[in-house]
Amino acid sequence: MTTHQNQNQLFVGSFIYSKNLDELEYLHGAAICVDKEGKIVAVERDCDEQTAIETVFPGLGWSADEVVVSVTKDGQFFFPGFIDTHLHASQYPNVGIFGKSTLLDWLNTYTFPLEASLADPLKARKVYSRVIRKTLSHGTTCAAYYATVDVPSTNLLADLCLAAGQRALVGRVCMDQLSPAYYRDDSPAASLAATRASIAHIEKADPGMRLVRPVITPRFAPSCSAPLMRALGDLAKEMPHLSVQTHISENAGEIALVRELFPMESTGAADDSYAAVYDAFGLLTDRTILAHAVHLSEAEADLIKTRGAKVSHCPCSNSAITSGAARVRWLLGKGIVCGLGTDMSGGYSPSVLEAARLAALVSRHVAMGGDEKAKLSVEEVLYLATKGGAEVVGLEGRVGGFEEDGEEDGNVDVFGWESWGDMVAKWVYNGDDRNTKKVWVKGRLVHERK
Ligand code: GUN
Ligand code: FE
Repeated sequence: MTTHQNQNQLFVGSFIYSKNLDELEYLHGAAICVDKEGKIVAVERDCDEQTAIETVFPGLGWSADEVVVSVTKDGQFFFPGFIDTHLHASQYPNVGIFGKSTLLDWLNTYTFPLEASLADPLKARKVYSRVIRKTLSHGTTCAAYYATVDVPSTNLLADLCLAAGQRALVGRVCMDQLSPAYYRDDSPAASLAATRASIAHIEKADPGMRLVRPVITPRFAPSCSAPLMRALGDLAKEMPHLSVQTHISENAGEIALVRELFPMESTGAADDSYAAVYDAFGLLTDRTILAHAVHLSEAEADLIKTRGAKVSHCPCSNSAITSGAARVRWLLGKGIVCGLGTDMSGGYSPSVLEAARLAALVSRHVAMGGDEKAKLSVEEVLYLATKGGAEVVGLEGRVGGFEEDGEEDGNVDVFGWESWGDMVAKWVYNGDDRNTKKVWVKGRLVHERK
């Protein structure tokens, strides 16, 4: 299976990307050369197609007639692909269906029945094909997916990502307690064996993890017994090339449940906090992706920073199922790496652009609660959606800048007198998939809006 384009490519036009947390780089009249393997081999400022052919190609050993050229028109720009650091592929059919529920009743009412039903391979194929197509159309070039407990359909999700050309972390969900009998692992040993089987399949499907990689996925502390948590912590140590993903401190009822289920005397944890429980089982590492982190204490945030674990901020989900408003400025101030997650279908939208917009809005609610500095700018939420996310999923330096590109155009009315900065702000607050014309991953065109 090819994971790249197999042709040299030249991209010419305007490129916009995050230089750092609060600054965007604007490269106008620039050219980027992407080789057959999908790697950026040259970034040239003040360069058009002709200049690239005459001065850049000879150095690369390229001849013009072997190169595919993409040029943007006025008002269009290339932007790095979005990274969704937390979503449940299996919950896609439920987007928008959550009523007035909160986390624990939402799981039992809406989520577990749907996830269990995806053990049907035909249903799984339909759902997973559509979720990949939908997220690609919104410019998500890399996604950290939860699948379900079922191994064959989890493996199918990885196979489909590979075929579609979407970068993905694919996690077989581990849960052996406090879930309905129709949807849980029979024992810690069975959960571990199933996880190993899925990891083996995915690693074989994409040797070298060029595009798709497995991820160790304890659903969250309440649904994992202490022996299962310990086994998965040991597995993370045995497989240091793999990330771990889970949920933390999303909802008050959940936090109380964790305290009840894992008293510190039983785990040997340093205190009775949620973060300390994961830490006691070896699950709080610099490869751990923690979704939500809404109600963390000062000490928990400090522990997360010390261990180097990362946070996936999910403002759509946290608002929809009324979990709370995560204090992203506070997390960033502690030096914790943060990215954005749609958390479908706790979140109702498959779009990381929507998550960025809601991150900006939720930060304003935190500001209205008394912390004026909490407000996140357009530049900051775009950083979280790209370079922040890349670091969360362990792909920093490889994606989030210009290994992967989305070409943007579309439904935002532009009058021609806006600055580029104002156009980007209009895109963040008003844009959607109609603005994403083409999406490439490793140089391969994986979506085109007709
Ligand atoms: N906590 C445990 N499972 C889930 C889930 O599927 N979604 C969300 N938002 N939180 C969870
Ligand atoms: Fe989630």
